[in-house]
Amino acid sequence: MSILITGVAGFVGCNLAEELIAKGHVVFGVDNFCRGQRENLAKVIDHPRFSFAQVEMTDLDAYRRAFDAFHARDPITEVWHMAANSDIPAGVHDANVDLRDTFMTTFNTLELMKAAKVPAIAFASSSAIYGDLGEQPLVENIGPLLPISNYGAMKLASEAAISAAAESYLERAFIFRFPNVIGIPATHGVMLDFVRKLAATPDNLEVLGNGTQQKGYLHVEELVDAMLFIRDKAADKVALFNIGAGDEGVTVRYIAEETVRECAPGARISYGEGNKGWVGDVPRFVYSVDKLRALGWKPKLGSAEAVRKAVRQIVAQEASQG
Ligand SMILES: NC(=O)c1ccc[n+]([C@@H]2O[C@H](COP(=O)([O-])OP(=O)(O)OC[C@H]3O[C@@H](n4cnc5c(N)ncnc54)[C@H](O)[C@@H]3O)[C@@H](O)[C@H]2O)c1
Repeated sequence: MSILITGVAGFVGCNLAEELIAKGHVVFGVDNFCRGQRENLAKVIDHPRFSFAQVEMTDLDAYRRAFDAFHARDPITEVWHMAANSDIPAGVHDANVDLRDTFMTTFNTLELMKAAKVPAIAFASSSAIYGDLGEQPLVENIGPLLPISNYGAMKLASEAAISAAAESYLERAFIFRFPNVIGIPATHGVMLDFVRKLAATPDNLEVLGNGTQQKGYLHVEELVDAMLFIRDKAADKVALFNIGAGDEGVTVRYIAEETVRECAPGARISYGEGNKGWVGDVPRFVYSVDKLRALGWKPKLGSAEAVRKAVRQIVAQEASQG
């Protein structure tokens, strides 16, 4: 197959590109490098089945030129749409960030797919679309969906646009709702934040909130594996799946302690107040992955092991970057 990955220079996008190339596909990638980095493409950039264009996807004409050039070379059969704003607080501060990078990137991708008759999209959605539903298990068909961040709102709007496109012209759509994904190359997230804070002040780690926020974490290698599994096995025209570890998750306190143990043993950890890291943060949620289990996929690592593995990898990543 010939696959376009948007946001290919980002954390998930570059891991996905490596795996799709390893599986023998032709991969085109676009990114504007607003958050992703060229270095993240080091393992694929010289591969004969990989091509890349630096494109601002919200500029429809520029995006169309790159898209059509790829499509003319080797007709695109699927788009894996990973590009989005991944800085949730930035979108709370300025709603335009998510309108542009989270929603318009989806809208423009669908416009180009329609014109070029590309039949299938796989979309990186998020647990943020659920909002704060307290202790209720978040199953795929729960509602009403009332996101509490602009990021979540624009992801939900993207899902809606994809659903409408599937009714009109797409043959298949895969919507993956994932919670917190960790691993390398880390571009954002609580672990990278902690490692960088400890590099600056090795004797003290300041934590936003009181550390009791508890979430499930999935390693990126497992996320990619799960997405490809769903792509192969799911039967629905619009296949909508939560992806996660399926356990109770771990607290921010656990992550802080693991990070200190790995990179600054003995450092003091200072906690803030309240159980929200920032406005738009959902402090605790129960994420159901029963539908994915029923399809036949389960992760090898639980949240705690995934956190330990990712902390080790991120510490090594930061050390190698000096
Ligand atoms: N990492 C997580 O924990 C997580 C959780 C839930 C959902 N997701 C979703 O998964 C996808 C990948 O996330 P990630 O962690 O790799 O984020 P990331 O920020 O590392 O990657 C996103 C990429 O999109 C690119 N991009 C953003 N706006 C663009 C634009 N206008 N034009 C072109 N490129 C643009 C960025 O430069 C970046 O490389 C995103 O859609 C994200 O919302 C991630």
